[in-house]
Amino acid sequence: MAEYDYDVLVIGAGPGGYVAAIRAAQLGLKTACADSRDTLGGTCLNVGCIPSKALLNASHYFEEASSGALVKHGIKFSGVELDLPTMLGDKDEAVKGLTSGIEFLFKKNKVEWLKGLATFKDAHSVEVAGKTVTAKNIVIATGSSVTQLPGIDVDNDKGIVVDSTGALALPKVPEHLVVIGGGVIGLELGSVWKRLGAKVTVVEYLDQILPGMDGDVRKEAAKIFKKQGFDIKTSTKVTGVSVSGSKATVSVEPAAGGEATMIEADVVLVAIGRKPNTDGLGLDKIGIEVNKRGQIETDHDFATKVDGVWAIGDVIPGPMLAHKAEDEGVAVAENIAGLTGIVNHDVIPSVVYTHPEIAGVGLTEEQAKERGSVKTGKFPMMANSRAKAIRDTEGFVKVIADAETDKVLGVWIIASPAGDMIAQAAQAMEFGASSEDIAYTCHAHPTHAEALKEASMAVQGKPIHM
Ligand code: FAD
Ligand code: NAI
Repeated sequence: MAEYDYDVLVIGAGPGGYVAAIRAAQLGLKTACADSRDTLGGTCLNVGCIPSKALLNASHYFEEASSGALVKHGIKFSGVELDLPTMLGDKDEAVKGLTSGIEFLFKKNKVEWLKGLATFKDAHSVEVAGKTVTAKNIVIATGSSVTQLPGIDVDNDKGIVVDSTGALALPKVPEHLVVIGGGVIGLELGSVWKRLGAKVTVVEYLDQILPGMDGDVRKEAAKIFKKQGFDIKTSTKVTGVSVSGSKATVSVEPAAGGEATMIEADVVLVAIGRKPNTDGLGLDKIGIEVNKRGQIETDHDFATKVDGVWAIGDVIPGPMLAHKAEDEGVAVAENIAGLTGIVNHDVIPSVVYTHPEIAGVGLTEEQAKERGSVKTGKFPMMANSRAKAIRDTEGFVKVIADAETDKVLGVWIIASPAGDMIAQAAQAMEFGASSEDIAYTCHAHPTHAEALKEASMAVQGKPIHM
């Protein structure tokens, strides 16, 4: 009889966990994956990336059709109506398709799905739904959940004070949505409800929205969102939210202190960040402590300090992004199988799926300057022929390169397809490209991607179309 039930047991079936499980099974390891949800795919597929992108797309169509934005293209609509239940139903269909797709992939790759909350008994055994299972290797991929704001009670069922999960399923368009937090969730889900007709106020504690992004991008993004009609209150803190009947009152005051004011809202979305999921996991039974941010620390191979226990995704340090978790899933499985699994954490793109999209990879200009001298090149989408042809010219591409070696250190883009454009920048950086390498790569015309070529030419001071 084998010493363990499984070679690999993965806890959590999000983009980190399900990918790790599939890759481990592909490498010939007997694998199981435990998850406490009814469906596979974790936060991303069930209540994150997928439903939010479905609603961003549908609400964009609605806004284009209803706002008269297409009239300039010679397309006139009249009597455009919102059928919100169908829009939400369509989003649920997209989620169902993708979560059941993972179920199919598990069956295809012979990954066993263990339904239930997993708790460590020791470093090689875990209890799931009252049954103990053992594994030679256990991968913790338990992800993250919403950070609560002390004193503010989220109740997604009531639909007045909600988190991102509640904001993906509001039964009607609020007249006034107040978003606490000017980060990615606030701007994406704020965009959805704004496009569907809500007035949206974003309250952000810091002096700028989108923390972590390049300074120019943060400034330009704020301008664009304000032009779209967002009321953005930066350097403002929320001191309380009270609910009376179907309305909420949000009390805010300047972050530095000062007079309090009240904002009336139909819905309040709390989106102030996410925290790693380790409660109930029984880490104390195996001697793992979390760091100050509640994360499990690992080495470069994703091994924890306990032999045979590994960790990946949102539960470990680094950006809380699905593709980062996925890449770590592949790498950890390869390391368990004795191969060399590596993730280059310096080249993880991030995308905000608003309109225009906002994307970046590598260092911000501010970070790059702290490390040495840099050259930058910027090219406005206003001068890009494709953007002009389709009359969607907001944004720019910015390339940051090392002043001496010309190696690309960071790329930042605001453009309607920025999320797709950033892939090229990530690949170039992964291959150690210089800005000159990108500038001398032939780009198809007319494409948005030419703006990256021109911004790279601008690093040398010689863009053509500007
Ligand atoms: P998760 O996806 O959180 O999965 C962990 C799973 O483990 C969950 O199903 C959880 O229920 C389960 N679990 C936890 N503890 C246990 C336990 N003890 N036993 C059994 N199961 C357990 N990222 C992007 O890259 N792009 C996006 O567009 C994007 N959009 C987002 C939109 C929203 C609204 C939100 C909330 C997040 C979004 N994210 C996006 C972030 C992305 O969802 C996460 O980075 C990603 O899901 C992390 O993957 P993970 O595998 O680490 O964890
Ligand atoms: P976030 O970290 O992106 O933004 C939270 C914002 O809230 C910050 O700007 C912060 O300064 C502000 N804040 C914190 N406390 C506050 C307070 N008391 N009052 C007012 N503002 C306050 O977090 P968010 O938007 O909740 O998203 C969580 C994570 O989910 C993201 O960091 C990202 O990793 C992931 N995500 C990724 C998406 C994507 O890739 N497109 C989409 C959605 C989420």
